[in-house]
Amino acid sequence: MKKIVITGAYSGLANSLIKELVREDFKIYVTVHTEKQLEFIQKRYQKYPNIVALKVDILTKDKEKIYGINPDILICNAALPGGGALLDITIDSLKEVMDTNVFSNFELIQTVARQMIKKGRGKIIVVSSLAGLVPIPFMASYCASKASLIKLVQGFKQELKMINSNVLIKMIEPGFYHTGFNQFMFNQKYQENSYFENEFEFLQKMDNLVYRYLELKSFNSIVKEMKKAVLSIDKKFIYRKPLWQVIPAKIGQIFLD
Ligand SMILES: NC(=O)c1ccc[n+]([C@@H]2O[C@H](COP(=O)([O-])OP(=O)(O)OC[C@H]3O[C@@H](n4cnc5c(N)ncnc54)[C@H](OP(=O)(O)O)[C@@H]3O)[C@@H](O)[C@H]2O)c1
Repeated sequence: MKKIVITGAYSGLANSLIKELVREDFKIYVTVHTEKQLEFIQKRYQKYPNIVALKVDILTKDKEKIYGINPDILICNAALPGGGALLDITIDSLKEVMDTNVFSNFELIQTVARQMIKKGRGKIIVVSSLAGLVPIPFMASYCASKASLIKLVQGFKQELKMINSNVLIKMIEPGFYHTGFNQFMFNQKYQENSYFENEFEFLQKMDNLVYRYLELKSFNSIVKEMKKAVLSIDKKFIYRKPLWQVIPAKIGQIFLD
């Protein structure tokens, strides 16, 4: 039975993906951020013998629990929402977003890839974002972190090819989905003494438009892609959805300069 490890899997997209995978022939290591979340998921999955719940804060030595598992498939899903105007945020908050979304994730990817190379097989699935393709005002810390992750993973994949490695690398790039992640990130810009205080009313209207018209309430489209990435044995690299958000993001990239 293949061993899958998924990080930051308490809620949102990962939780929906686990529901899809639970009947497949996998042993699933569901890892979550905090002890409190661990208590909840131990109850949630107690009837499933093929699920093991663990607390793994990817910023800490907890990562060693994942190395001990020596997974066949690693899904790097954990991320921190990084909202707020670049004029307002502290460098420490920016560092925290980078530490989580880029450095901790990449340390996991690098270490697990080395284990997989030794075994001669394995798959690493990295959850990035369409927000890594184009910067979005008031969430640029997050966009920068996902853009960095994308570039590291793209370079990593090219290097693995040069040594004829059998380790498959796949990247998921979701658009806006209503998991609560965006709400948390958008609200971070409403800070006291913000440079943008006079714009708050307008910005709130913009946020409401995103919640109403852009954020997908059903996660099916992207979870289907994530499941495909888990099950497939081909070399397809990028899995993006929904298409109507992918197209403007790709066009937006052309006009960045
Ligand atoms: N929702 C969207 O619109 C969207 C769009 C594009 C990409 N994504 C990406 O999809 C992935 C899943 O996001 P989601 O929307 O499903 O939201 P989510 O349920 O909040 O998932 C993010 C998870 O990461 C966990 N996390 C944060 N810091 C961590 C750490 N140091 N160690 C371990 N876990 C940590 C969070 O735990 P806490 O809640 O305890 O912090 C949370 O469970 C993320 O990579 C996100 O960037 C989401």
